[in-house]
Amino acid sequence: MPAAPPNKPKLVSLEAGRKYAWCSCGQSAAQPFCDGSHKGTDKTPIVFAAKHSGETLLCQCKETKSPPYCDGSHNNLDDGYELASIEEIEATKGAEDVARTGGKFGLSMLYGGAFALTPAPDDRCDDGDLQWAALINAANGAANLHVFEFTIGQETEWRVHDECDVVFFVASGAGAIEINGSRACLFSETGACVKRGEAFRFLPSETMYVIAAVSPGGGAFKKIARPSKTSIAINDRIVAVDPANRKSMADRFYQELVDHHAGAENITQFIGEVPKSRAAFHRHLYEEAIYIISGSGILWTRGSRTNVSAGDILYLPARQEHSLECTSDDGLRLMGVLYPSGSPAINY
Ligand code: FES
Repeated sequence: MPAAPPNKPKLVSLEAGRKYAWCSCGQSAAQPFCDGSHKGTDKTPIVFAAKHSGETLLCQCKETKSPPYCDGSHNNLDDGYELASIEEIEATKGAEDVARTGGKFGLSMLYGGAFALTPAPDDRCDDGDLQWAALINAANGAANLHVFEFTIGQETEWRVHDECDVVFFVASGAGAIEINGSRACLFSETGACVKRGEAFRFLPSETMYVIAAVSPGGGAFKKIARPSKTSIAINDRIVAVDPANRKSMADRFYQELVDHHAGAENITQFIGEVPKSRAAFHRHLYEEAIYIISGSGILWTRGSRTNVSAGDILYLPARQEHSLECTSDDGLRLMGVLYPSGSPAINY
């Protein structure tokens, strides 16, 4: 019997409707499931029925606040957040250094489907009222998570996305957004959610650079004459950085900005701070896109690497083994979006 369970979640495959018994005492030799070892302790297993068929991450450290599922609490245990070992650093010394191609967006395609790109003004389409580019989509191998950029220097026309919620991040600039006739202020590092079918327009007071995530699938933004509904409550849709909502993950920090509380059904948006360090290779069950706000570093996959810095966009397929190393003394500041929704603290 293990004296202490591993400080990592276990990836398991569950069948919808089937009941499972999760070990809560930590003594089971069949982690994360119960094998009866709790007898004689004051613990009992948690019996649960799987809601969906498929892979999920069950807690093994027994510190989760949402048993039986991992909620990332393991990261804050001693040795819970794993940095790259000397052996791992040695083993990746021969990784191919993939430079930007020099083609559209200067794409660096890494092994396994992850990539980094550097948006450039010349690559943007001019729509008259704004300039835009599709940065992450099926054309460069993204499965479901699509990301656009908008440069907005004047009041825009009304637009709508009929297929998906849209999650915006104001990377720089300031102004306002109107959603179906209700207006809210936007400023740098604000997130905003526009629900599927809602009309929106931007009213910048200074040029705004905005990253937009749409998922699943890309679809199209359509211009419309005016919104059919005039007024809705949108206060919860706009989320700003708030030190009170900062969560720690060892010596890293993150804050969820737009998620289901702000109306986004499929996407979680967060802002993160990474100190100078290199995490051990890890995976997530979700696709992830990252916009680097400040700092520089190296995106690693097994066998390949590329340098990244402020203004770059990164894409990580679901289950892609990777590490984002921070090489800046001042750390990396980034905005991430996850599809399906999840927590940036949950990895395996
Ligand atoms: S393994 Fe326990 S919270 Fe992640």
